[in-house]
Amino acid sequence: MDRMKAIPNPSTARSSTAAIDLHKIEKHYRIGDTKVAVLKGIDLQIDRGEFVALMGPSGSGKSTLMNIVGCLDKPSGGRLSILGRDVISLDEDELARIRREEMGFVFQSFNLIGRISVLKNVEMPMVLCEMPRDLRRTRALDLLKDVGLGHRVGYSPINLSGGERQRVAIARALANDPRIIIADEPTGNLDLKSSADVMGILNDLNRDGRTIIMVTHNPEITENCSRVVRLRDGLISEVTS
Ligand SMILES: Nc1ncnc2c1ncn2[C@@H]1O[C@H](COP(=O)(O)OP(=O)(O)OP(=O)(O)O)[C@@H](O)[C@H]1O
Ligand SMILES: [Mg+2]
Repeated sequence: MDRMKAIPNPSTARSSTAAIDLHKIEKHYRIGDTKVAVLKGIDLQIDRGEFVALMGPSGSGKSTLMNIVGCLDKPSGGRLSILGRDVISLDEDELARIRREEMGFVFQSFNLIGRISVLKNVEMPMVLCEMPRDLRRTRALDLLKDVGLGHRVGYSPINLSGGERQRVAIARALANDPRIIIADEPTGNLDLKSSADVMGILNDLNRDGRTIIMVTHNPEITENCSRVVRLRDGLISEVTS
């Protein structure tokens, strides 16, 4: 697992700021004349190296919040800092850079590209960072070996099991060595064995110093989380350590 270890970053290692700092985050949608409030003022600080599980009923706003933390969506109000940097005022290019370099995304539905190989899927974020071809190929192969898929690199994702697809997605999420991993129901479509495999990988990544925020409906997979945050109707209803 050595290759999956976070590379220490001297410029931020001494900083005491939170990895993710949400202050009074609100999100509402307008549907016709009606304003629908989905997030109603979320205050949450996640320290570097924490593994936070986000739980709550369907429709409580978990994915909405994850998309905001991942800089995929903008809040309607409030402040958000990522690794000590206020991101609300950043333009789309700067947000794209933060997503690309600081964050790895893992989704319930894997979001792999079916018409290219597993290897090319993992290489994709490095292509976007303009990493030289040889380097990105070697790194993608190493990451796929680390998640136990060295024998599947030439496959199309279409021909993989759900658990294998999610491990490809994790390898891809690690391509640019992100400090934060955002996982929205990463085991939602997996059987017990594959869930355990994926959680084993996420726990290792957390032990190696990465900050993880993960949505789940399954309390059994939160045992290694530093905190469980519960959302209800757009607000935090409970935090347990
Ligand atoms: N683009 C949108 N326009 C209007 N309403 C939206 C939009 N996106 C999400 N919502 C609403 O926001 C609420 C929260 O959705 P969200 O996807 O965050 O829930 P969730 O907690 O992730 O649920 P689940 O556990 O089912 O994934 C839902 O009622 C949903 O209908
Ligand atoms: Mg959701």
